[in-house]
Amino acid sequence: MSISDATQCATDLRRHMWMAGVETELRRLIWQIAITGKYISAKIHEANRKFAGFRNIFGEEQLALDRTADEILKAQLQFSGFVREYASEEQDSVIVIGKGDEQYFITADPLDGSSLVDTNLSIGTIIGIHSSPVLNEGRKTLVAAMYITYGPLITMVYSAGKGSHEFVLNREGEYVLAQENIVMDDRGSIYSLGGLRKEWLPEHLAYVEFLESSGYKLRYSGGFVPDINQILIKKGGIFSYPALKKSPSGKLRLIFELQPMAYILEQAGGMATDGSRDILDIKATDLDHRSPVYIGSRFEIQKAREFLKA
Ligand code: F6P
Ligand code: MN
Repeated sequence: MSISDATQCATDLRRHMWMAGVETELRRLIWQIAITGKYISAKIHEANRKFAGFRNIFGEEQLALDRTADEILKAQLQFSGFVREYASEEQDSVIVIGKGDEQYFITADPLDGSSLVDTNLSIGTIIGIHSSPVLNEGRKTLVAAMYITYGPLITMVYSAGKGSHEFVLNREGEYVLAQENIVMDDRGSIYSLGGLRKEWLPEHLAYVEFLESSGYKLRYSGGFVPDINQILIKKGGIFSYPALKKSPSGKLRLIFELQPMAYILEQAGGMATDGSRDILDIKATDLDHRSPVYIGSRFEIQKAREFLKA
């Protein structure tokens, strides 16, 4: 590798954000969060079937991976100097980690899909970056969102309101631009659906039958991050975790999971709805707020709205 190649790699994510006009503190924050992906992935590599739980092979107490990821993120954010409050799926309440004059409020699903780790399927980290306290409509407070996918490659997608961009962690440990300004097609050909079929409501079932008769192919890993990443990178399709008979709010969490992904997909020309409202227009009432979701390319989401209205 030449010196200029090395310089290019070393500055790729930072330079991209600088050239895209992302404000200085936000740039630094996104960079620091992206870096935690390296530490978290190292922990994932350490874990295997033998010590995915609380004990390692030497019988020592181990934190579960999702709690380890939470500790890593919290520590990194605490010392960043940019974060006032940290809300994590792993914590019962919002944690004040700043002095009170910091600009940003963070939401984190530190290790989404962590129960899949022993299967060697992809898992991920989801982050929302807000300019004011997080219990609100995502559209009013989100200034950036990002997710990291731990799979055969470690990739990171971020948006700071100027498109959505994908980076790949290279062998030198630098995030290198893979796709700038991802633009989703109006319509895709894959569908990814959570919840038991017998628990689905009739209008959702009718929508799924429409997708199936239109030739959509099933793609569902059980990991929200890779399932959404697939739709974004393939530039179309639909992911849904719908309202269920026994849980009308579905399963997925509004502030930790849905808002950041809705932000990133909207920035790529996609949409996200609960069936009638945009995900980013729903006011989060508590940290555990859950919502049904239909997220993906425009055609499928508009169709979902039509079916759910019926
Ligand atoms: O965080 C919840 C989660 O694990 C998501 O990653 C995933 O999309 C969903 O739950 C899978 O749920 P189920 O096991 O019901 O298909
Ligand atoms: Mn999750």
